[in-house]
Order: sequence, then structure tokens, then C-alpha cells
Amino acid sequence: MKRLNGKVAIITGSARGIGHAFAKAYVGEGARVAIADIDLTRAQKTAAEIGDSAIAVKLDVTSQVSIDAAVDQVIAEFGQIDILINNAALFTAAPIVEIDRKNYEHVFAVNFAGPLFMLQAVAKHMIERGQGGKIINMASQAGRRGEPLVAVYCATKAAIISLTQSAGLDLIKHGINVNAISPGVVDGEHWDGVDAFFAKHENKQPGQKKKEVGEAVPFGRMGKAEDLTGMAVFLASDEADYIVAQTYNVDGGQWMS
Ligand SMILES: NC(=O)c1ccc[n+]([C@@H]2O[C@H](COP(=O)([O-])OP(=O)(O)OC[C@H]3O[C@@H](n4cnc5c(N)ncnc54)[C@H](O)[C@@H]3O)[C@@H](O)[C@H]2O)c1
Repeated sequence: MKRLNGKVAIITGSARGIGHAFAKAYVGEGARVAIADIDLTRAQKTAAEIGDSAIAVKLDVTSQVSIDAAVDQVIAEFGQIDILINNAALFTAAPIVEIDRKNYEHVFAVNFAGPLFMLQAVAKHMIERGQGGKIINMASQAGRRGEPLVAVYCATKAAIISLTQSAGLDLIKHGINVNAISPGVVDGEHWDGVDAFFAKHENKQPGQKKKEVGEAVPFGRMGKAEDLTGMAVFLASDEADYIVAQTYNVDGGQWMS
């Protein structure tokens, strides 16, 4: 029995990486999925690869006009939205004395205001429809504690954990469950950028930081996007109806809370 039969999901930032794996897993569980990404060309390629149950939607989470248009498009094409995954985010890093105000504002706009106003737009639709829903925010172990060189990204992810609690408590009266997933280190294009940053700032060889973080994971390696799909399917399914405002670590044992 497929666990998301008949459900419609919108997944931000799912043209690549973890979001792409979520979209594939959701379709495998019977859902129809909107691949909503700022990179429309890549979103179209991803949707085509996944098949008929996926559509590509242009979305810039920093723009309210774009959020409203994307939500309207998904409702027009699929008739409803049952699940939102707030997955799009940017990594940024700099020593404290080099943090740039414009970059800080942009990263907060994508990583925090984006999920907040996506959640608001989708929650309004879910409340109006009256059938509840599931909202999953992507946090990070970076939101569990600060890190030298990563102040802004860490703060956006701590804010996501807090938003998950507040929105979770506010929306459960409408049958909308808001929860979050907190990954550790997940290999992919995102981490290629992180590795390049640390190669520069910690004087490392390309690939060295990845190797070090992978070896430090209690499980013994970096995560893969597919390591996260089980939790993403579970939190979107009816089995998670009684789970409210939680953030789950899926990180090979990196963080305990
Ligand atoms: N990769 C990791 O190690 C890791 C660890 C912890 C948490 N996370 C979180 O998991 C999520 C997915 O990470 P990933 O590694 O797949 O990232 P990624 O960089 O591979 O993918 C991010 C996607 O978001 C899209 N995007 C960027 N700006 C956007 C915008 N303004 N509007 C819409 N889409 C936009 C990009 O085009 C891209 O497709 C993120 O929230 C990230 O912070 C990742």
C-alpha cells in the first residue's frame, strides 16, 4: 500500500540534491509532486526524469508574487496541496569580521523568510480546503549550535527550528502538522560548495573537508540524499498525524537531542 496515494506535494528547491530525492520518493509512494525551483530549466529536467506525476514550477522564495503564483499554479494543475516541503536554501560562510550585509540579507530572505511565507501561503490554502495537511521544514545540525565561520547559515537554521515550533503549535488546530528534518552532512552539489569554501579558509586540499566530516559521523560516512527520504515520507503520511512541532535529526548520529 502506497503511503502518499492521492496526495499532492510542493517541494521547494527540488530541481537537485535532497529535494530531488524527496520528489522521487514521494512519486514512488503515489503522490503527485511540483518541483518548485528558481532554476526552471533544471526543474523541468528533473520533472521529466521523474515522469508524469511531476511538474516543474518556477519559484523564487524571496518574492511574494512568485510564491503566490507558484501556489496558484500547483492548485490549478493538481487541484489541491496536501504537503509542503520547505527545502530551498543557500549555504554561506565567512569569518564574523567579513560578513557582508547584502549577503546576510539575501541568505535570510531565502532560508528563513522564504520558508515562512511559503508556509503561510500553503497553510491558507489548507485551512480554506479544510482537510489539514503536512508541512516539513528543512533545518540542519547547523541550527543546533553555532559554528565558527558559519554564523549566518547557522542562525537561519536555528530560526527554522523555532518557526517549526511556533507554526506547529498554531496550525495543528487546523489539522496541519508542521515538523522539521535536521540533516547532518549530506554529499552532493551543495557540499561541493562547502568543501571549496573550507579549502580556501582552512587551507585544505579540495575534497579534504568532505573526507574529514564524513569520518567524524558516528555512522562512518557522509549522508546521501536517499538517507533522508524515509523520514520525509513518514512525516508526510497519516502515520505522523500525532507528531507536532518537532525537529528530527537524520544525521548518522551526529547530534543528540
Ligand atoms: N547538503 C547538506 O549537507 C545539508 C545539511 C543540512 C541541511 N541541509 C538542508 O537541506 C536542504 C537541501 O539541501 P541540498 O544539499 O539539496 O541543497 P542544494 O544546494 O543542492 O539545492 C538547493 C536548491 O534550492 C534552489 N534554490 C536556491 N535559491 C532558491 C530560491 N530563491 N527559490 C527557490 N529555489 C531556490 C536551488 O536552485 C537548488 O535546486 C536545504 O534546506 C539545506 O540547508 C543540507
